[in-house]
Amino acid sequence: MKLLAPSILSADFYRLGEQIEACVRGGADILHFDVMDGLFVPNISFGPVVLESIKKHCPLPLDAHLMIVEPDRYIRDFVMAGASMVSVHIEGNHHIHRTVELIKSLGAKAGVVINPGTPLHLLEEVLYYVDFVLLMSVNPGFGGQTFIPRSLERIRQLKEMIGRINPSVLIEVDGGIKEDNIRLVAEAGADILVVGSGIFSHPDVEAQTRKLKSLLNV
Ligand code: DX5
Ligand code: ZN
Repeated sequence: MKLLAPSILSADFYRLGEQIEACVRGGADILHFDVMDGLFVPNISFGPVVLESIKKHCPLPLDAHLMIVEPDRYIRDFVMAGASMVSVHIEGNHHIHRTVELIKSLGAKAGVVINPGTPLHLLEEVLYYVDFVLLMSVNPGFGGQTFIPRSLERIRQLKEMIGRINPSVLIEVDGGIKEDNIRLVAEAGADILVVGSGIFSHPDVEAQTRKLKSLLNV
C-alpha cells in the first residue's frame, strides 16, 4: 500500500487547519513538514510550535523533514512537539549514525534524506539502521519546483540497494510530484509520496487529495 503525505509548505497558512482537515477527509496518510532554517537551504519556514498546535487536532502521523544545520540540537523538540517520523540530510552530517540513533531513542522513526546531486552509494552504510530514506526529486528549499526526471532511475537503484541490504527500509520521495507523474514515481518503488503544490494549488484540497490517493492505489 502506497502512502500519500501532503506537504503543508504549499498550504494557505491563513486557512491551515481547514486545509489539513480537507487532506484528512481526502484520505491522506501522513502530514509532511518542511522545516527550513535559512542556512541549510535558502528559505525559512516554521519550527516545532507549528507541529505542536497541529498535533492536538490532527490524527495523522507527523513527518518532520529537517533542512537545518546541526539538526541534533532540535530533534528532541520536534519529537516532543509530536513528530513520529524525523529525517535529516546525509549532506554535511558527519555523525549520521549518532543522529539516527538519537531520533530512534526518542521513539520516532528515523529517516535519512538525500539530495538529487548526491551519489546513492553514500547511503549504503546507513541502510543498515534507518527506517526510511527520503529521496529528493528537486533541490530542497522551495515548493512548486519541477520533478527531476533522473529521480525515477535513482528510486529504482535505491530500491535495489535496499533489497540487498535491509528490505524493511521504506522509500519516501519528495518534490515535483503531481497527478501526471505520481503513478510513475510509485511504480519506480516509492512507498511514501510527498505532494505539496500538487495538492494545495488546487481549490478543492479534499477532492485533489482523494484523486491522488486513488491514482496511487489502483
Ligand atoms: C522542498 C520540500 C518539499 C516541497 C514539496 O524543499 O522538501 O517537501 O514542499 O513541494 P512540491 O510538491 O510543490 O514540489
Ligand atoms: Zn520535504
